Amino acid sequence: MNSQFGNLSRRVAMLSRCYSFGVVKPKTAVLLLNMGGPQNTDQVHDYLLRIMTDRDMIQLPFQGKLGPWIANRRTPEVQKKYREIGGGSPILKWTNLQGELMCKELDKVSPETAPHKHYVGFRYVNPFTEDTLEQIEKDTPERVVIFSQYPQYSCATSGSSFNSIYYHYRKRNLPKHIKWSVIDRWSTNPFLIKTFADNIRKELDQFPEDKRKDVIILFSAHSLPLRAVNRGDAYPSEVGATVALVMDELKMSNPYSLVWQSKVGPLPWLEPFTDDAIKGFVKQGKKNFVIVPIAFVNEHIETLHELDIEYCHELAEEVGAEKIRRAAAPNDHPLFINALSDIVSKHLKSNEKFTPKFTMRCPKCTNPRCMESKKWYSALVG
Ligand code: FES
Repeated sequence: MNSQFGNLSRRVAMLSRCYSFGVVKPKTAVLLLNMGGPQNTDQVHDYLLRIMTDRDMIQLPFQGKLGPWIANRRTPEVQKKYREIGGGSPILKWTNLQGELMCKELDKVSPETAPHKHYVGFRYVNPFTEDTLEQIEKDTPERVVIFSQYPQYSCATSGSSFNSIYYHYRKRNLPKHIKWSVIDRWSTNPFLIKTFADNIRKELDQFPEDKRKDVIILFSAHSLPLRAVNRGDAYPSEVGATVALVMDELKMSNPYSLVWQSKVGPLPWLEPFTDDAIKGFVKQGKKNFVIVPIAFVNEHIETLHELDIEYCHELAEEVGAEKIRRAAAPNDHPLFINALSDIVSKHLKSNEKFTPKFTMRCPKCTNPRCMESKKWYSALVG
């Protein structure tokens, strides 16, 4: 694992050096939004604290007190998990590599908006979105594309990141010279679909031919509290859309199921959970699986620890599964880089400011931050 991260770091550093020689000032800034992950175990506590006190991400009673208490309590256990995957999350390295490769591609396919430069804006850890926005302003691009790195939109993840940008600018003047637009969801992009399908085929090929067609493909996405689902959060349906298109691309080659992982706390969340699904299928006599992280675009703790260590190894042994393999996240798959540059170049050409759904609230949303934020975006880019 360490050598994998070492290679990744070297590639990112090399690409950054190559890219910085040719670029003086970006014409188009592409801000890649994601939640981020602690790069070392010292960052774990603050990372958890920010998540547990973010009311867009999670709503707890007495959150000001309960959130910090949960963060303190969970820190040692989460630090241990990060140590077991090499000491930190690789999400920043993957995001930088994806951004560098995407901008190289964009400079070729969209010379009229070049040079392009990617920026990383994380919600809960360095580089924070707010700091990155200040850097972008200093670089004075003509245009900024705010590009959510969650292909499927959820108010808890994408929505929280977009709301944080609104909060940052609520009491500041927006730079007048910059033209802003938003890519808020892209769950059905054809290159994204082909990336997942290709990664699944590679894993299916690792099974003996006589068993291959019976392998169950388990599409696993981060779960969501049922309270959020019942408010009308778009995420479950957008994840379902990705799954349907991937299976279409695979010509329905295998049995499959959509399952949900990483539940936190005692309240009810969207089910079936990934581990329960594996247990249930094994009881039904199914023994071989490929797990596909369908809502993550790069490796992080939920893939490297929860899926790889806890399910593919520990749970497989515990329940007597024959083989559980895990498809890679999109990472630097060439088709995925095509997906990123395809989405941004089409967005730039279309002059679309955001999808029509972006400024619409969930039917049962009662969050005043969503209301203010969506009004602000409408005025900002409308
Ligand atoms: Fe979805 Fe507010 S919770 S828009």
